[in-house]
Amino acid sequence: MKSENDFKTIEKRVQNIINQVSDRYISNKLMDAVILIIWLKRINPKILLELGTGHGGSGKLIMSELPNIEFHTIDNGHGKHISEEAVGEFLPDGAHKYYNNIYEDLDKLLKKIKPDTIYIDLPNQSQGQIDWLFKSFHLYNVEWIVLHNSHKKHYRAYLENNKYYEELYYLPKLYNKPKSEKGRKTISIGLSVFRIKDEY
Ligand SMILES: C[S@@+](CC[C@H](N)C(=O)[O-])C[C@H]1O[C@@H](n2cnc3c(N)ncnc32)[C@H](O)[C@@H]1O
Repeated sequence: MKSENDFKTIEKRVQNIINQVSDRYISNKLMDAVILIIWLKRINPKILLELGTGHGGSGKLIMSELPNIEFHTIDNGHGKHISEEAVGEFLPDGAHKYYNNIYEDLDKLLKKIKPDTIYIDLPNQSQGQIDWLFKSFHLYNVEWIVLHNSHKKHYRAYLENNKYYEELYYLPKLYNKPKSEKGRKTISIGLSVFRIKDEY
């Protein structure tokens, strides 16, 4: 008998959510979205903070797959690409949304909500910014970090040898037609899972 949490069954539900919001409004590709959900079910977060709400597609996915989660998410429509009304428009009731700049308000938020897990989905972070984020999470004893876009060459070495967090899992960026550049489709954006080190 198929379990409701086997890969294919989760994949079907994930595809269904992607279809509901359209793939323009969720940054995960099918493969990394499924792996994200499998890992989050394993971690079983009580309180999760997402950095980068976007339109709320990933929030809708996470909240529908982990119905008991306390879900918080922050975004300021950076660069005015998304209006305040459109930020989080797909989030289900019960989501806690903050329209703020992460680099100004993160400390306050970590102190207030005490998340056990962070999901980072920000574009174009420098290694220095990732370093600042990881140090902040460590300071507030955040146990788990899930990082989207973790395939970026300029911080791979930093992630692999991190002082505070161990990279337990890494899914690279993948394509389904690797031989021909033309028409090749991205099926996964890099995704990594980190756990806090006991000693460093
Ligand atoms: C890839 S999108 C998030 C997509 C969303 N997680 C999803 O899949 O549905 C990245 C978001 O990060 C936000 N962002 C970038 N820099 C930010 C900052 N300094 N403070 C707050 N939000 C920021 C942008 O406004 C953008 O909506």
